Amino acid sequence: MDRPLRVLVIGCGSLGLLYAVRLSSGGCSVVLKCRREEQVEAINTYGVRVKHPGGGLEEARITAVLQPPWGQFDVVLVATKAYDFPAALPEAINASRRDGLIVSLQNGLGCLEELEERVGAERSAAAVTYYASMRVSDNTVLFMGGTRVVLGQRSRRRHPLLGALADALRRGGWRAEVVDDIDAWRWDKLIVNAAINPVTAILGVPNGKLLASSHALQLCRCIIGEAVEVAEKAGVRLPRDPYKAFIETVKATRGNRSSMLQDIEARRRTEIDYINGALIAIATRMKMALPCNSIVYTLVKALEEVLTR
Ligand code: PAF
Repeated sequence: MDRPLRVLVIGCGSLGLLYAVRLSSGGCSVVLKCRREEQVEAINTYGVRVKHPGGGLEEARITAVLQPPWGQFDVVLVATKAYDFPAALPEAINASRRDGLIVSLQNGLGCLEELEERVGAERSAAAVTYYASMRVSDNTVLFMGGTRVVLGQRSRRRHPLLGALADALRRGGWRAEVVDDIDAWRWDKLIVNAAINPVTAILGVPNGKLLASSHALQLCRCIIGEAVEVAEKAGVRLPRDPYKAFIETVKATRGNRSSMLQDIEARRRTEIDYINGALIAIATRMKMALPCNSIVYTLVKALEEVLTR
């Protein structure tokens, strides 16, 4: 392609802002679609800022809009919460060019499946993100570290723009890989999230604090063990040792407050139904019980109820 890749990022939470900056640094022409007028104004006036814990500050000029133009984007990244994905999908489809790529960035299971149903598997991809961030204002995120982003489609498909997207992320400074079997990595991250997110949300601690408690680690190990059994029974071939993946992610994001803890602290709905809830639903269909996943699921649902009502 002899022009910059045109990318729309739907969702102006921490992940959406972070992707927008990386892709803009990687040479893409990026537009952010936000929900609130004040946020659009803040981004258009001051740009998007990424603060690094060591003190560095990056600034990128990115256009934010409430309504993106139709049919113009080569790639649309949907960076909403999983439960907002269905509502964001019609806009993603309208904004994408007819043969464009649409990428789901959500944690857990369910969104890529829904995307494939709506636009077909050829144009549907997922990005599994092992980087962490926290939004500190409408136009500023604090980067909290991480290890990589893995991109791909199901059943060894390879949309022509997937490689260009990964190249742009690499130019923007991330370790980005395109894989043949994205489901293996979606499950890898699902298992990492199933342990880190609810346990940090219940304890109210940053990810790294899990390493300070043998009881917290025991609970995480139990959640992971149950999830691995489900994955094996569902025929998923995990790409690496899930407990090692969990430890690696905890260490790389030790100062981060997990997205589920951030949701609980902001008294928002969490993604528990798409993470431990999704595992429990699959296990129930296979007549398996997941006691550790069920207890953290119930506690997070209880927290949601007492804090948001
Ligand atoms: O959901 C999150 O918070 C993130 O996926 C991760 C990588 C677990 C870091 O906190």
